[in-house]
Amino acid sequence: MKKLIFICFILCLSCKVSTGNKDTFQKNSNNSSNNLNIEHRVDSILKLMTLEEKIGQMNQYNGFWDATGPVPKSNEKAALKYEHLKKGLVGSMLNVKGAKQVRALQKIAVEETRLGIPLIFGFDVIHGYKTIGPIPLAESASWDLEAIKKAAQNAAEEAAASGINWTFAPMVDISRDARWGRVMEGAGEDPYLGAKIGVARVQGFQGEDLASPKSIAACAKHFAAYGFAESGRDYNTADIGTSTLYNVVFPPFKAVNEAGVRTFMNSFNILNDLPATGNEFLQREVLKNEWGFDGFIVSDWGSIAEMIPHGYAEDIKHAAELAANAGSDMDMESSAYVLELANLVKEGKVDEKLIDDAAKRILRVKFELGLFDNPYLYCNEEHEKDVVGKRAFHDDALDIAKKLIVLLKNENNILPLKKENQKIALIGALANDKTSPLGSWRIAGDDGTAVSVLEGLQQYKGNTLTYAKGADVVSPGSNITFVNELKINETDTTGFSEAINVAKAADVVVMVLGEHGYQTGEGRSRTKIDLPGVQQELLEAVYKVNKNIVLVLTNGRPLAITWADDNIPAIVEAWHLGVQSGNAIAQVLYGDYNPSGKLPMTFPRNVGQIPIYYNYKNTGRPHGKNSDVVFWSHYSDESNKPLYPFGHGLSYTTFSYKNLKVEALPNSKFKIMVDVTNSGTVIGKEVVQLYIQDKFASLARPVRELKGFVMVELEPKKTKTIELMLTEKELGFYSQHGVFIVEPGEFNVYVGGNSNATLSTTLILE
Ligand code: BGC
Repeated sequence: MKKLIFICFILCLSCKVSTGNKDTFQKNSNNSSNNLNIEHRVDSILKLMTLEEKIGQMNQYNGFWDATGPVPKSNEKAALKYEHLKKGLVGSMLNVKGAKQVRALQKIAVEETRLGIPLIFGFDVIHGYKTIGPIPLAESASWDLEAIKKAAQNAAEEAAASGINWTFAPMVDISRDARWGRVMEGAGEDPYLGAKIGVARVQGFQGEDLASPKSIAACAKHFAAYGFAESGRDYNTADIGTSTLYNVVFPPFKAVNEAGVRTFMNSFNILNDLPATGNEFLQREVLKNEWGFDGFIVSDWGSIAEMIPHGYAEDIKHAAELAANAGSDMDMESSAYVLELANLVKEGKVDEKLIDDAAKRILRVKFELGLFDNPYLYCNEEHEKDVVGKRAFHDDALDIAKKLIVLLKNENNILPLKKENQKIALIGALANDKTSPLGSWRIAGDDGTAVSVLEGLQQYKGNTLTYAKGADVVSPGSNITFVNELKINETDTTGFSEAINVAKAADVVVMVLGEHGYQTGEGRSRTKIDLPGVQQELLEAVYKVNKNIVLVLTNGRPLAITWADDNIPAIVEAWHLGVQSGNAIAQVLYGDYNPSGKLPMTFPRNVGQIPIYYNYKNTGRPHGKNSDVVFWSHYSDESNKPLYPFGHGLSYTTFSYKNLKVEALPNSKFKIMVDVTNSGTVIGKEVVQLYIQDKFASLARPVRELKGFVMVELEPKKTKTIELMLTEKELGFYSQHGVFIVEPGEFNVYVGGNSNATLSTTLILE
């Protein structure tokens, strides 16, 4: 009987396969018959599946296979997982990598289970797979959508060659809180920029054809409001109003859905008292019904079981019931579905139709990836060797790394550095670190593979370069891994004297300070966001002997560096830049690349200002009428202003803006025109930013909202007229009930090189 079913299935499959070739399974195909074909094949399989097998598709396990051979690790849990795999009760695995490894597991699914349904292999390909690129927050500072797309494309090609079909990226969570360690993984604070970048990443990962061996399925995460964790503490509760949800949190998710992202991940957090994983409003009402999402939703790691400590589910069975009914299609590592769902269906607590729907969604994506046509499409070891670590990936990693470095400050044009006859002192443990620049979330990346700043600067031979560590950032002996808490050096200053001596003898001091790569990322929230450990002390000690300092920051979140801004002449935000880190930094410091990065997140003056973001709403008391009187919205001990505003970033040249004009076009469209001039002496790139303010509306609207940007490259003294468009899409907003509305009225329009742009005009929407 078993064989018979299997044969019927194979017949059914092969007759379907023969009706279309592989590249007809792409998601965005114009040929709707291909999609119909996939639907037909999904339905045919579903009819053959038992309830348990359908639920099996909804079950995702973390890798449990021994790297050395086909023997599961000998603990009970692994043995049970192995049993489940052989019975066709596993639909997906994560954290399995390498063509050989993936093939071994896929073989079990395809050859040993009753129906031979292939697994889908997921992995956190967050900023590169093996060739680690800049962290996503850094990438976002390039505002270069093509370069961002290319980075995702390369990551997909490399990961796919290593057996991966699906990445848990992009994270499109908006966050206004630099204390939250996961800001490094997103595109910053702005929904407009976040949406554009999210779409670029999805397009890069998924390509034109999902079934191509170079593309992988993307996953928009974490749905929703994970980035609004109270007090920036990871996994914490989010409590926000409908307007913020619709106008700030949802837009990037909605945009990537429209761009065809094939999966979503829900989130760990409670949103307005309901855990996102058990939230029917988010998953069924908004995502699947309103937005018409037809891919599948995976839970976050164990987030189904986490509804128990949330106090929402009584036990694991109840958690499975709540999650399945709410629309979580796949269970990542809670084992709740595989163990409990069949009984819940039998007891009438979960409708089998919902199971069918979830299984179909998962099978659909597997078809689109071409896994049914060739389950081993991603498992060619020779191809893996050729592709992983390709030179071209490194070249592209360098290209984007240069483009996103942000010049925060450059007094007296201390930068770029002169190329000859200079004595340069290089100070800071992070300057000689080949691991930290890889940043967080790089699980397939290898320690020690980044070009350090020291190595980068050593390539410029015309100067004398002397290096001194000054102080460790991480205490020696600390376990530096993705999972361990780092021990920061808070006391050891024994290297200061060497650094001071080196600085005394130098013309210019380059100090590389900031966070270790593992100080941001998941589970890495901080209450202090200044320079960690003794680095501030080191900076001040060096400053006493040589004020000619270029401070290069390497970090994964905005830092509060007010003292440095007050005292240090040049400050460069160099983030965590990945394998090409030192090369990119050296090229920028020496002016071989003229910096063009712009901040995707506001830098506070002080951690107490957080949450601080440019698109805030005015209070009723925005200004003090009399400086002695306290009754206006302010702090007694700190300015309301940030240290560096959203969109800020300097260049070795300067840009000026004039002639801002608005032309009203039919159908509520407006053409915005502005003349941008390179008013300096070297060629440079500028991100021209367009902001609006809806002056009066049925809901209070932000003082400014980014609604367009364009990158322009100009030779010195050259001017270009830039055109940007505003339509109802940019001028409208969501009501308290989640309805998109466009209200007539007057808008302020600002254009410039950052969110404080002063050149302005108005437009009237009739
Ligand atoms: C993270 C997700 C990630 C998953 C799988 C979770 O802890 O929140 O973003 O994709 O683990 O590694």
